[in-house]
Amino acid sequence: MREIKSEYGQVLVGTKQELFEKALELGQQARSQAAHSRFLWALTGGGTPKEWYQWVVASHKLTPAEAAGIEWTVSDERHVLLSSPDSNFGNAERQLLEPLAVPTDRRHPWMVAWPVAEAAEAYRRTLLILAGPGRAYDVCFLGMGDDCHTASLFPGTPLLSDDGGLPFGGQEVPGKGWRLTITPTGLRQCGLIVLMTLGAGKAEALQRVMRGSYDPKNVPSQILKTCADRVVWLVDEAAAAKL
Ligand code: 6PG
Repeated sequence: MREIKSEYGQVLVGTKQELFEKALELGQQARSQAAHSRFLWALTGGGTPKEWYQWVVASHKLTPAEAAGIEWTVSDERHVLLSSPDSNFGNAERQLLEPLAVPTDRRHPWMVAWPVAEAAEAYRRTLLILAGPGRAYDVCFLGMGDDCHTASLFPGTPLLSDDGGLPFGGQEVPGKGWRLTITPTGLRQCGLIVLMTLGAGKAEALQRVMRGSYDPKNVPSQILKTCADRVVWLVDEAAAAKL
């Protein structure tokens, strides 16, 4: 793997296999170095994580015993039932947590059956108990869309302008329905952020984030500049082509 200098965090460029291995290694390393017992690992949505889940299960590099010692959640969620194929936690559960037999008390989905505001408030309270005040996840996995969104922080959406100082919230995203998501405040409260973005379709977006003018309200992934010391970008050569 090669490294690219960036003010948005450490950028590692490699093959998909190398990136998938690195993502797991970073999470496991953080877990082994954690001083506290309840270790919170937030997965995320999109196609890349689903591929990663399948790779993790097939690789046997994460044992059921190890997985059972981690508190699992997702960085953001669509406001749909967990049974929906669009559910980020539902997909993580079906493709990773179930195959690794993670106990149900180690699984922390957003309360998607409730109205959005109540679901966000309930999640905030759950994380306050699990992580304690001023802390979000120990490890937060993220992806990035070709519009530079990350989590469910899409260009021009309210939480990018004002998250009220709250680490988690909900918002309606034009054309995508209601979303529940970690906020810029929450991202700054994470121990480690690992953003995986692969494919030529992300090259323009990655260039906008890393080389464009600073405009996080319209280029949401640029919010990671404020916590760059804890961000690792895992990208393939196709996505890095314009850096
Ligand atoms: C979601 C995700 C979203 C995703 C990006 C990248 O709920 O859709 O949280 O932010 O990470 O859209 O998705 P891909 O990895 O599939 O490109």
